[in-house]
Amino acid sequence: MKSDLFAKINIDPVKLPVHVAIIMDGNGRWAKKRLMNRIMGHEKGAETVRTVITSCREFEIKILTLYAFSTENWSRPQKEVNALMKLLEKFIQSEKDELHNKNIKLNVIGQKERLPEEVREELDSAIERTKDNNKMTLNLALSYGAREEITRAVRKIAYEAEQGKVSLEDIDEAMISRYLYTADRPDPDLLIRTGGEMRVSNFLLWQIAYSELFISKTLWPDFKRNEFIDILQDYQKRDRRFGKVICS
Ligand code: FPP
Repeated sequence: MKSDLFAKINIDPVKLPVHVAIIMDGNGRWAKKRLMNRIMGHEKGAETVRTVITSCREFEIKILTLYAFSTENWSRPQKEVNALMKLLEKFIQSEKDELHNKNIKLNVIGQKERLPEEVREELDSAIERTKDNNKMTLNLALSYGAREEITRAVRKIAYEAEQGKVSLEDIDEAMISRYLYTADRPDPDLLIRTGGEMRVSNFLLWQIAYSELFISKTLWPDFKRNEFIDILQDYQKRDRRFGKVICS
């Protein structure tokens, strides 16, 4: 029974984050420490992706957003970019059925049109196959950059204002949110970054305004279920005030 699981791992199911976002950092360093090439670090990192998806589904977290490839990542050496794209294609191919069986809906945020055709085709087929699933949403951020996302939203709103479809008085925070890739989804409650760097690297800048941050020194390939549980326990102890004063 689910209540037994939550009792065992000391987690209050009522206080779980609805949306967890993760900056998966440290694949390169993980490989370097083992005198391997960076690509092997990414391959190992893909295994952690599988583990974290399984854990989120197990803990009934509704939305998981993973920063898998940033707009800046295009300027890595071509060999690494190609390997990451191939890895992504293979991952979607091999996990599609599993995602579907687990009732998980796949979604992509970012410039999907910039991805190689083979990757896009795999993604589109998995998105189509899982579109009616409703236990959890897996958002993969691919060719994603928050500044690009905001710029794109501003351009769209300005275009619609020019066309007379939007009036200036209607532009508010809720409208801007609706023009982002993450439209109609709640903002992340918890943002985790592995690999120890203390920055947000152009990830969900608008949406993380009130997210709880957790930086782990663990390199992404070493990130395991137990540490995820520790972070969820830590999250449950936090006092989320959203800028307000709570009177007791
Ligand atoms: C950052 O580590 C990680 C990436 C740029 C890619 C993330 C990719 C994966 C976790 C694997 C594939 C993803 C999926 C969804 C199958 P880094 O290379 O910057 O590490 P470093 O900071 O140690 O150099």
